[in-house]
Amino acid sequence: MYNFLTGIKSTGRPHLGNVIGVIYPTIFLTKNEKFKNQFILIANLHSITNLKYIKNNKKNAYKILAVWLACGIDYKKFIFYRQSDIPEVTELLWFFSIIYPYNRLKLVHSFKENVKKKKTINTGILTYPILMAADILISKAELVLVGKDQLQHLEIARKIAKKINNIKKIFPLPQAIVIENLIPGTDGSKMSKTKNNIIDLFASKKEIKKQILKIKTQKNFSTNKKELLKDNLYNIYISLAGKEKKEKIKNNFKMGYEHAKEELYRLIINKFKRERNLYKYYIKRKNKLETIFKKGAKKMKQIVNSTIYEVRKAFECN
Ligand code: TRP
Repeated sequence: MYNFLTGIKSTGRPHLGNVIGVIYPTIFLTKNEKFKNQFILIANLHSITNLKYIKNNKKNAYKILAVWLACGIDYKKFIFYRQSDIPEVTELLWFFSIIYPYNRLKLVHSFKENVKKKKTINTGILTYPILMAADILISKAELVLVGKDQLQHLEIARKIAKKINNIKKIFPLPQAIVIENLIPGTDGSKMSKTKNNIIDLFASKKEIKKQILKIKTQKNFSTNKKELLKDNLYNIYISLAGKEKKEKIKNNFKMGYEHAKEELYRLIINKFKRERNLYKYYIKRKNKLETIFKKGAKKMKQIVNSTIYEVRKAFECN
């Protein structure tokens, strides 16, 4: 039996893309497969590589856990933990840093994107994939559910595992489970907070409406299949409504984009009514959320202790 892991960075509430691309697939997969351990990580050390997330980092970790719970995860079957609760992760970061060449980190897509966008690049942005490798390998995860954009990071984790295994065989090689991002952002590119193109399921109705109104559309609606697939509003709509409602959707579009946006708004509010209510319920209960993190950290300690012991020994640091 394998260990399963997935993780979300704590940069605010998970949005529609995270829910459809990570949270629901995790719930589905773990209902249908038996795993040895099931880890869900809240990456609150990765989030702060962008310094603007230092403020509210604590609250943001709670938000992510609250969304997982609101989406119906059976939390007792998982080990939920905050990265910062497990200092051994950052210890591993060091051991991994000394065996991984730094020029290769400079070639990573996410790093290059940051270089394009930002004036100052901190060292944490460079070593981001190494920290992620530490997350993955510390729990000896074999199956890691990630977005397509994280595949390169996972490849680095595999390389590091191989290198360490050459010193002493410690780690299984982690494999990715990639869920194609089924739902585009409001501008048609990947939904992501940094691109400011998200639909935040757990925001106020007014806010959601605003985000939907922002969705970029084609000049004119066309029922031609090729044209339809280029239409971003149509793609978002279809991925939520399901293909069986295609005819109804097309009819909504024929009445104009404004009407279709109104319908999409209604669909989202109805479809996620329960989740939106549950989110409000959980986010008020910080004690409950904290207890889940504390329990997770306690379980992690045992697992992590044995890994870190082996690694220290391999580096003669025991
Ligand atoms: N970097 C991932 C993201 O931005 C989040 C993450 C951090 C992660 N550590 C992880 C995902 C370990 C899976 C496993 O999406």
